[in-house]
Amino acid sequence: MGIHDTGEQAVKQQNNEYAARLWQYKQAETISLMIHVGRQLGLFEHMAGVGPISAKELSEKSGLHERWVLEWLRLQAAGKILNYMPDDGRFELPEVGIELLGDDRSPSFMLENFDGGTPREAVDALLKSFRTGLGNTYESSGPEGARRGETRHWKAAKNQVVPRMIPVLDGVEEKLKNGCMVADVGCGDGAIILSLAESFPASTFHAFDPNKHAVARVKEVARDMGLDNVEVHRSSGENIPASGQYDLIITFDCIHDMTHPDLVISKIRESIKEDGTWFIKDIRSKPRFEDNLRNPMLAMMYGFSLMSCMSSAMSEEGGAGLGTLGFNPAVAEEMSRAAGFTRFLMHDFKDPGNLYYEVRP
Ligand SMILES: C[S@@+](CC[C@H](N)C(=O)[O-])C[C@H]1O[C@@H](n2cnc3c(N)ncnc32)[C@H](O)[C@@H]1O
Repeated sequence: MGIHDTGEQAVKQQNNEYAARLWQYKQAETISLMIHVGRQLGLFEHMAGVGPISAKELSEKSGLHERWVLEWLRLQAAGKILNYMPDDGRFELPEVGIELLGDDRSPSFMLENFDGGTPREAVDALLKSFRTGLGNTYESSGPEGARRGETRHWKAAKNQVVPRMIPVLDGVEEKLKNGCMVADVGCGDGAIILSLAESFPASTFHAFDPNKHAVARVKEVARDMGLDNVEVHRSSGENIPASGQYDLIITFDCIHDMTHPDLVISKIRESIKEDGTWFIKDIRSKPRFEDNLRNPMLAMMYGFSLMSCMSSAMSEEGGAGLGTLGFNPAVAEEMSRAAGFTRFLMHDFKDPGNLYYEVRP
């Protein structure tokens, strides 16, 4: 075999791998949809903790048609989501599958991410954005959009933010216990600020978000929780009061979504006390694209950016368009200092998707 043949073989091999990769993406799309179908029908819940189960048994348990259940089980086993027992033709949701898909109390439960794909109107809006340059606000994804990821946010708030992160911030827990003023800018579904309001009843909490659906949701949950130390305002960060009254300001996963993050950060500087703390959560990323390529989920992050984050950040003429990967540690520090903050500390809480910053005047 000559050098020429080996070269040709290598190219052929690479081409085959390229095509296989495309088919894997197509297959992942199908499996994702069928995980969503299983979620809607409660199939993972029915399988959790019961060990190996046949299609007949699962159809009896779920009240669903056996033939359809069998085809679904085979798809999930082919996708290695379920174990298959060839001896008796049963299927099993493994222990890790129970944690991720079968038990909504588990901290790593992720079934709600399988939401059945993107509605046609959202794809049409995306196509339009490519032509006009203008993106879509979070509000445009309706009341459903304002609740996306809610269960995950509440778990993170209760299991991580309140007990693990707040105590690490210099002097903050003490102030919260004694009674202080807190603002959450871009509060979304309100999981963080409402968890804090519940844990620290002596303090006062102001939640801000421009999305009317998010605001309605936060008000509804605050009422259900019986909280009387929370005010919820429909307002973008640019318009919060420049009162210098806040001891703690939170911006979680939202600076990169803003059309004018520089204006919002300046407003945060004006509304925070001189000994206050600005606590930021933003996506774990590095300044250079090539340095992010090692992230195995990078393509998905760019998908989130095109569908939500960059779209929101480009939703006005002249929008900064930072997007999902845009508020990395270098940008965060530079923008904070430009707004007059002098102390910038990065916390790595071993959250694989996010970094945290404690920023002070
Ligand atoms: C990804 S969500 C994060 C919500 C919440 N902080 C959380 O951690 O779940 C981004 C939020 O930023 C809000 N947002 C977008 N532009 C904003 C702005 N200029 N000022 C304040 N909030 C903004 C959106 O309405 C949305 O609720």
